[in-house]
Amino acid sequence: MAPKMALVTGGTAGVGLSVVRALVRSGAFVHFIGTRAEVGAGIERTLNGSGPPVCRFVPLDLSRLVEVEAFARRFAAEVPVLDVLANVAGAVLPTRQETPEGFEKTLAIGYLAPFVLCRALTPVLARAPRARIVNVSGSPGLLLKRRLDPTDFPTRKPYSGVRAALDAVHAKTVMTQTLAERLAGQHIDVNAFHPGAVRSDLGRSAPFPISLLFTFGRPFLSQTSKTADFVATAESLSGTTGQLFVGMRPRPLAFEAEYREGLWAATEALVGV
Ligand SMILES: NC(=O)c1ccc[n+]([C@@H]2O[C@H](COP(=O)([O-])OP(=O)(O)OC[C@H]3O[C@@H](n4cnc5c(N)ncnc54)[C@H](OP(=O)(O)O)[C@@H]3O)[C@@H](O)[C@H]2O)c1
Repeated sequence: MAPKMALVTGGTAGVGLSVVRALVRSGAFVHFIGTRAEVGAGIERTLNGSGPPVCRFVPLDLSRLVEVEAFARRFAAEVPVLDVLANVAGAVLPTRQETPEGFEKTLAIGYLAPFVLCRALTPVLARAPRARIVNVSGSPGLLLKRRLDPTDFPTRKPYSGVRAALDAVHAKTVMTQTLAERLAGQHIDVNAFHPGAVRSDLGRSAPFPISLLFTFGRPFLSQTSKTADFVATAESLSGTTGQLFVGMRPRPLAFEAEYREGLWAATEALVGV
């Protein structure tokens, strides 16, 4: 039987690297995305060892949506079936940075790129007997009560790195529920997960005090995310959809339909239908 095929963003560090390793252990072939070519190539070499290849590093800047769209088109043409899409890449940037397409970079990496990938790769996911999309989220206390204004999206408020990161992860969590409903008829399960506290490269760029936590806390943080690995690989979750996993426990996502549709429409208006 052909191995399951997986695509993981953010696979060069932190939570995404944990997911890449877990998927490889489960017997899948894993394509993983990051921007740091040397780091990605090193992980690819280590995991492939001297046996048959089990993974492939894909250098891609997710903040450039035209390139993300082009990659997804090529990928969909090359890979007949995709079983797992894991959207794990994220960033917390101390100052506002704008992409060449005019988007705030944190939002582009953490939300707009996953939106584009999910949309472009749905046809290849739908070819799997039962596919899954898993999206990194975070603490329910920080993310479930949050609301964005779809008429001011992305917000014109003054930039804050922490708020931009939370907005991106919140929007991706809302998208998880919308996709779970929209893709149920195509046998694609869509879930989000809170990874827990995981050793991370976020400290490289994040503003204080997040940088402090991830830099000095690094030796004390787990190298793997049990929740992320479970949600990405567990066969027992086949058919489970529209949930936010905290630990091993699912919690149904329950954003209001009007809010979700407003955010979806605002996002389509941004990235083009
Ligand atoms: N770590 C935790 O404890 C924790 C807890 C709750 C939530 N989260 C969330 O989990 C997500 C990932 O966090 P992490 O801790 O795994 O961070 P990390 O260790 O810094 O890893 C981030 C990953 O995203 C990739 N990435 C960043 N910018 C990119 C870009 N422009 N294009 C392509 N890839 C890009 C990085 O690849 P390159 O460096 O190669 O570009 C790296 O693989 C974030 O949204 C974070 O908020 C993490």
